[in-house]
Amino acid sequence: MPHLAGHADAYFNAKAGTAWGAAAPDFDNSAWRVVDLPHDWAVEGPFDPSEQLAQGYRPRGIGWYRRTFFLDPADRDRAFELQFDGIASHAAIWVNGLLVHRNFCGYTPALIDLTPILYFGETPNTIAVRVDADVMEGWWYEGAGIYRHVWLASRPPVHFSTYGIYANPVKQPNGAWSIPVEATLGNILANNAEAEIVATLLNPEGKVLQSASAKVFIPSLGQATAAMELSMPGSPRLWSVDDPILYKVSVALRHNGCMVDENETPCGFRTLRFDADHGFFLNDQPLKLKGTCNHQDHAGVGVAVPDALWDFRIRRLKETGSNACRCAHNPPAPEFLDACDRLGLLVLDENRHFNHTPEYLEQLRLLLRRDRNHPCVFLWSVFNEEPMQGTAQGREMVRRMVAEVRRWDSTRPVTAAMNGGMLNAEGAFEAVDVVGFNYFDHAYDTFHARHPHLPIMSAEDTSAFMTRGEFANDANRNVISSYDTEHAAWGHTHRKAWQLIAERPFLAGGFVWTGFDYRGEPQRLEWPSVSSVFGIMDLCGFPKTAFFIHQAEWVEDRPVLALAPHWNWPGREGQPIKVIAMTNATHVELWINGRSLGEKTLPPHDIIEWQVPYEAGCLLAIARQNRQEVARTEVHTTGSAVALELIPDRPCLCGDGRDAQPITLQAVDANGRMVPDCHALCEFVIEGAGKVLGHGNGDHNCHDPEQGPVRRLFQGLAQVIVQAAASDNTAGKITLTAQAPGLSTARLELKVELPAPDQKIPALSSQEPPFLIRKWRMAPPQPERPDPLTENSAADMNTWMEFTPGTQQEVAIGQWVLYRATFEPWKRFSERGGVLQLGSIPGLCEVWLDGQQLHSASEQTFQAPLPPSSGPRELTLLLRSSGLPIGITGDVPILCPP
Ligand code: GAL
Repeated sequence: MPHLAGHADAYFNAKAGTAWGAAAPDFDNSAWRVVDLPHDWAVEGPFDPSEQLAQGYRPRGIGWYRRTFFLDPADRDRAFELQFDGIASHAAIWVNGLLVHRNFCGYTPALIDLTPILYFGETPNTIAVRVDADVMEGWWYEGAGIYRHVWLASRPPVHFSTYGIYANPVKQPNGAWSIPVEATLGNILANNAEAEIVATLLNPEGKVLQSASAKVFIPSLGQATAAMELSMPGSPRLWSVDDPILYKVSVALRHNGCMVDENETPCGFRTLRFDADHGFFLNDQPLKLKGTCNHQDHAGVGVAVPDALWDFRIRRLKETGSNACRCAHNPPAPEFLDACDRLGLLVLDENRHFNHTPEYLEQLRLLLRRDRNHPCVFLWSVFNEEPMQGTAQGREMVRRMVAEVRRWDSTRPVTAAMNGGMLNAEGAFEAVDVVGFNYFDHAYDTFHARHPHLPIMSAEDTSAFMTRGEFANDANRNVISSYDTEHAAWGHTHRKAWQLIAERPFLAGGFVWTGFDYRGEPQRLEWPSVSSVFGIMDLCGFPKTAFFIHQAEWVEDRPVLALAPHWNWPGREGQPIKVIAMTNATHVELWINGRSLGEKTLPPHDIIEWQVPYEAGCLLAIARQNRQEVARTEVHTTGSAVALELIPDRPCLCGDGRDAQPITLQAVDANGRMVPDCHALCEFVIEGAGKVLGHGNGDHNCHDPEQGPVRRLFQGLAQVIVQAAASDNTAGKITLTAQAPGLSTARLELKVELPAPDQKIPALSSQEPPFLIRKWRMAPPQPERPDPLTENSAADMNTWMEFTPGTQQEVAIGQWVLYRATFEPWKRFSERGGVLQLGSIPGLCEVWLDGQQLHSASEQTFQAPLPPSSGPRELTLLLRSSGLPIGITGDVPILCPP
């Protein structure tokens, strides 16, 4: 923002629609780079040891975004809302020069009514966003920029409001199911409106099961809510983590006899219950919560996670046998919740700021209204580890926040994640439905004995450390062993933390810190480690041994058997190496190169260990249950790497410009086995209808850029995230090639399929929009021809009136009016010149530019060349009234010379 010095600057700075600097529509952004959203600029930056460790040692800073777009004049009567799903971290948003929103939470959506201030037809609209990412709301990597989607909702004048549909099935005491449906409507018409709402329940196959309707009266510029009830005929198929069946509630709005708006909300039939003695019940069946806590960044993309990557991450979590995820410590992306509904993962949905005052209650309200239809959301959390948690003040704040939750959703319990204060005489635990324990496990039993009627669960546990593929601590290299021996002072190994939970039926379950590694918080390490090592998986989702430890504990429907470590230890021949088997069977027998090392019994909640003198070859393990073999696995010493291999997550992509997927890049030996000690520097080339969004390798000590064509493998693996381009009516393909010196090149072809029709607002290149001269002043009408060079004091706000093109005035016949604009054209016009276009202005007599009179090149409309020149320019128009209203009737653009 420019420095504002004089009186006029101060005066206009305080007025609506007069933004300065990069916030102003006429700012020259031609030198800015073009980016696609979602976008995180922090992930593009270098690592710097002087930056904040919590943010992954990455500079964040302040950034600006601008977007210019046109709207169809046919939409002039519609209601428009601009929606930002998430901006990290604080933001100020201007539209057409008006400050329309300030955002003080990087995880909360911003919903902005733009209806009164938009232009239609040839006048462009400009959105400008200033993002302050120096602000920290957390102690983890938060990214920087507009990192979630941005939508422009275009709605009929009488319409469903944002988050206006509430349709959450409930089971009645008599066993029947119904869906109380609420529909909140808005009306921008000058008159009150009457509308009819029809709600319909559709089964998973799309068959209509029930309908209900209601009439509603919506005051002009007001809102109203219609309530209906849909009863479910018969018994629904229940939503569960194993069978995430979704029904749909479709709501239609009739106004003046026409169907004008509709909305479809997926919903799931399920019951939730916490019991202080027996834990959590889903659909009246006990379900131990096998959860993980997760932040929201992923390798290569930071927090700008493409929608499809949420599916990938959820599938990875479910592979561990997990059934729940805690969104630590903030509201997640809406697409994450959609995917959890579809794929069956319970979500502990967490609020960011612990505060009961209006601004923060509004943040909580947005979370509740946005997320309360999702069957996956089973519990709300109002805070994480707050110093006031064990005080009366903390309890009173929680009471107010819980009351707010109940106002919007009475069907789900509320928790708070506490790392202390539970044994105090008073505190937050008194005001929640379920007490969340972060660590503090020494008090599980004492608390349960003291408060036998309060359900409890572990909201956070473990905090164990592992570097993927490393099997010894090495302080010099900042790496930590993956044998599940290392953990934070406040946590436990993966095995121990789960044992404490598994052995207590009254504990509803737990949430491991964390499912995935995340940037920042590299505890117990520091620089050069730039990301955390808590994950069951690394930053890419590659498994550490913790992955198999949890599978062994959590998977119940199939045998699990895995061995660690890898078996490439050249130079260690004859030395004992610890081999561990992770299994859910009772016995495992281990062989080396065909010789049995004996069968061992699995201790409860543990792994089986052998000390095996190293010799290259093959380790074979056979798991048995009741003396029967249930699973076997082998680990081989590999040859050296001879080739690279690319393994896609899915065989194709949708060509909508958004779909993306992670592709595993691995080094393999002559037998096609991944080589776990290969760290080759790989280079990739992408051709066809797509681009590489970023890449990673899961090494918390790696400072390679996450973008660009080069990446080093870490323990044999790296991940490339590829995004399809928006295709123009033709299906296409993407070819990704990866090469490294001495290894055969890998080539992968991905099909790009035709997308469903999309409603993207076309992006304009910075060359396209005309420069509009917008800020005018108008001198008082006078009988004599005024001197076109007359000065008006900048400090005089009232003699010369502010004037907006497109408006007219009645002026007595024969009177003269002088209009003056001072403007600074964009660089392309100041350097190359342009064409000044005034259109047909009634009464226009003279046009003066920078003290020189201009003459039109056309007879009907005034058009004259604007010669190149730098700095501010002054344009003066002299008009004389013929008795009809006069004024500058339309936009005054500067166009490119023909
Ligand atoms: C907890 C906290 C988490 C993370 C974790 C590391 O206290 O809630 O955000 O910092 O410790 O162990």
